[in-house]
Amino acid sequence: MARTREIHTPDLGPPSNAGVSRELYDRMGAANITRMMHDVYENLADSSVSRLFPSDPAARRAAADRSADFFIFLMGGPPLYQQKHGPPRMRARHLPFEIDEPARQEWLRCFGDALEDAEAKYAFPPEHMEGFVEFLVKFSGWMVNAR
Ligand code: HEM
Repeated sequence: MARTREIHTPDLGPPSNAGVSRELYDRMGAANITRMMHDVYENLADSSVSRLFPSDPAARRAAADRSADFFIFLMGGPPLYQQKHGPPRMRARHLPFEIDEPARQEWLRCFGDALEDAEAKYAFPPEHMEGFVEFLVKFSGWMVNAR
């Protein structure tokens, strides 16, 4: 029988992405954003939440590409994610994975490590970092679905 679990819904509701500058895509380009997401996924593969992510490198690169398409749109680029996969429905898409607060914190650490020296590595404009990180912190809270 399939295992069932209680789904936790955070009080905060869906957060806004208004703090993410839409200039980021023009300044960084798709290649840098994609490389950034591949680095995040490599960090995740080497983290305490690696069990949630594909262990096969090719599958992991495909997963990083899907996330990159989402972030490209978020950062002001074309709606590649929607064209390929339909409506984002991010919380729903994360429900198959058991994400609790410690998992969220580890995910944020993996992203944060990738963002070190982000200006040099990905041409990330430093003046837009604060709003971007604020989005990651808030939105990741909305992805939490387990206590
Ligand atoms: C700012 C917060 C987050 C954003 C914007 C985000 C975005 C995404 C996107 C775009 C995908 C691809 C969905 C697809 O397959 O079509 C994805 C997949 C996934 N995310 Fe997140 N995510 C966030 C937070 C988290 C957190 C906190 C965790 C868990 C610690 C997590 C775990 C996963 C997993 C396990 C997948 C599936 C990977 C696979 O394809 O095998 N995400 N996420």
